[in-house]
Amino acid sequence: MFNKKTITNIDLQGKRVLARVDFNVPLEDGQVSDDTRIRAALPTIEHILAQGASLILASHLGRPKGEINPQLSLRPVAEYLAKILDTPVYFAEDCIGPKAQKAAAKLQSGEVLVLENTRFHAGEKKNDPNMARQLASLADVFVNDAFGTAHRSHASNVGVAQYLPTVAGLLMEKEIRYLGEVTTNPKSPYIAILGGAKISGKIKAIRNLLSKADKILVGGGMANTFFQAQGYAMADSLVEADALQVAKELLEKAGYRLPPPVDVVIANAFSADAERVPLPLGDVPAGWRVMDIGPDTVQAYGALIATAGTVTWNGPMGVFEFPPFARGTFALAKAVAESDATTIIGGGDSAAAANQSGLAHKFTHISTGGGAFLQVLEGATLPGLAAIDELQ
Ligand code: 3PG
Repeated sequence: MFNKKTITNIDLQGKRVLARVDFNVPLEDGQVSDDTRIRAALPTIEHILAQGASLILASHLGRPKGEINPQLSLRPVAEYLAKILDTPVYFAEDCIGPKAQKAAAKLQSGEVLVLENTRFHAGEKKNDPNMARQLASLADVFVNDAFGTAHRSHASNVGVAQYLPTVAGLLMEKEIRYLGEVTTNPKSPYIAILGGAKISGKIKAIRNLLSKADKILVGGGMANTFFQAQGYAMADSLVEADALQVAKELLEKAGYRLPPPVDVVIANAFSADAERVPLPLGDVPAGWRVMDIGPDTVQAYGALIATAGTVTWNGPMGVFEFPPFARGTFALAKAVAESDATTIIGGGDSAAAANQSGLAHKFTHISTGGGAFLQVLEGATLPGLAAIDELQ
């Protein structure tokens, strides 16, 4: 149950509102190349402005390690926002200190200011109280709409909430409602699909899903570690030797609930134009590597998905950045889209596959979270969410 205050529970008329959004979006040649996260924040932005508040937006972008990095400036994002809002958007070259103070003080009701990247200050990731206090001093109310960042405990999402009344934005509310529902009360059969390069980042999720899901379907590089744990030679495939023992243990514990892929696609080099050969699950020949799930696996997984009541999916099934090896991921996106289940997709590549499949409208929910979505699958508390005021 979602028991947090949201922007619809408070009066924002005439207030100065600081909203933490997740504008950590990809840039190409200094331009926004995927605006999904910006558009996802629009309902909150529009609601706040319509209430007659002035709006200060804070976000991180990339991982600048506490130093100014002009490549990771939020200025192009502010310019992009101005275009899609069709209204002027001011930009402050710092998120705290005199530049931010001055820009925030000038802001009139109905106006928008974007602050520079919060991670240009080392205090952001350390959740430094001094930085949090300075951010809080810019506004009367704090709105946290950054679901994608909710698994981080940083000054601009968790620290600042100690110094201001804190409510959730509409995106945060929507994400938590969907994800909370499927993870606490999934309609069965619940099928969880996990992919991506590394198994090490997914162990906690698998452990938690073993007590929640009816089946866990794996693919992507992480499946290789399971294959090797089953005794197959993996040649040049990505395998995490440190995780072999835990992979064995998980396979034993899961039994039939974790049916590994029955075939794979191998390649003779790690490149988009490498030779592409389907192979029934077995030893991978020397000089070759696994790059995707195979067609029989797509079919077998598709048949299971067709019977599901709930499907969650995080992580691609192959080397998604190379189109010939993204086929398994796209085929799976189609199978998930066609099922009658409640379908929730999260994580950059799987969400991109869902969006690019032409079937985006068929998924129940495509999350803006990557790490945050995974943490929900792990059953862990999101610090960003925990810091929001509860409904009395
Ligand atoms: C994300 O893209 O998952 C969030 O914006 C968090 O970014 P981070 O992994 O750099 O903290």
